Amino acid sequence: MQVLDALDRPLHDLRISLLDRCNFRCPYCMPETEFHEDYKFLSRSQRLTHEEILKVAGVATRLGVSKLRLTGGEPLLDKKLPELVAGLAALPGVDDLALTTNAMLLAPVAQKLADAGLHRVTISLDSLDEEVFRAMSGGRGDLGQVMQGVAAAEQAGLAPIKINVVVERGVNDHTLLDLLDHFRGSGHIVRLIEYMDVGNRNGWRMNQVVPSRELVSAVQARWPLRPMDRSYPGEVARRYVYEDGEGEIGFISSVTEPFCGSCSRARLSSDGMLYTCLFATQGTDLREPIRNGAGDDELADILSRIWLQRADRYSELRRPDVAEHHALSKVEMYRIGG
Ligand code: GTP
Ligand code: 5AD
Ligand code: SF4
Ligand code: SF4
Repeated sequence: MQVLDALDRPLHDLRISLLDRCNFRCPYCMPETEFHEDYKFLSRSQRLTHEEILKVAGVATRLGVSKLRLTGGEPLLDKKLPELVAGLAALPGVDDLALTTNAMLLAPVAQKLADAGLHRVTISLDSLDEEVFRAMSGGRGDLGQVMQGVAAAEQAGLAPIKINVVVERGVNDHTLLDLLDHFRGSGHIVRLIEYMDVGNRNGWRMNQVVPSRELVSAVQARWPLRPMDRSYPGEVARRYVYEDGEGEIGFISSVTEPFCGSCSRARLSSDGMLYTCLFATQGTDLREPIRNGAGDDELADILSRIWLQRADRYSELRRPDVAEHHALSKVEMYRIGG
């Protein structure tokens, strides 16, 4: 069965945040000043169990979801991740099962995840300059270890491997061409992402965003690019290939060229809230009905009612210059995993 929202968009993807913790403190997502030692993350009992996640994902596939993405926080902090992956991979109708990770802990588990049925990984990696990388991970990341994670993913066949780079003006933009140069010809797809005003804690300002059109020109000046078609409806990245045959590159331009018109993603937080937009101010609690014994039909009914009413298009309505826009109390990125 397929459900369409109030703007005629189908439900196609479910992004599942496994836990709100992370071993990094990227200033644009979990600034150390806010997420310090005493910060209260969700407890185990507040988080959905794997069984509960499988239940939601199974119901979502009945409503048309065929693409699942595991995120965090950092999903590899979940030590039983391969078991969950195996359960999700076995759900009928799942044709894409991906994981977004910072890859610090990936090397030892990449093969186990592949064996369990994971299709591919997307790795967040903002710079290959040691100092810039370290600063952008909040002083926690080890570039060598992350690169071992990339190599292990490659060996395990978790392809196509995508490398997500959040671009912040004056922070890592001067290191982008080096990063692209490194991955050209590797088969991995680098995606340059406009820094977004997700949540309320990162102090986002429009002047920190480098518009994708500026980046496309900078890359073109070094390596000519040719635009490609989207690989699936609702894809967030605009794709290009290097004219010299050295592979693909993507640009994700949520700030300057929003893509809400084709947005088919629902997001499940680790405490069981379902959000229908990355910038949502409200979600719907699924944990309570599940723990009160709701069956799959009842859950399917709740999910389809949420989707039928959905009219989100935050990025299209965003007004970076309007103060009350910043005052909206939005869900944080580390809780819904991007
Ligand atoms: P693919 O399935 O490989 O195309 O991945 P994806 O681009 O859908 O997901 P990924 O986790 O790699 O996210 C890439 C970037 O796009 C991150 O910065 C996300 O926060 C952002 N992003 C993903 N989905 C949305 C969305 O629906 N709205 C907005 N505004 N940004 C999104
Ligand atoms: N703006 C853009 N992308 C972000 N991510 C995290 N925070 C932001 C932000 N403020 C990215 C991560 C990860 C993806 C899921 O979202 O780097 O790759
Ligand atoms: Fe962790 Fe990813 Fe957020 Fe960085 S962006 S703090 S790696 S969840
Ligand atoms: Fe979808 Fe909301 Fe992102 Fe628009 S802003 S693309 S509705 S998640």
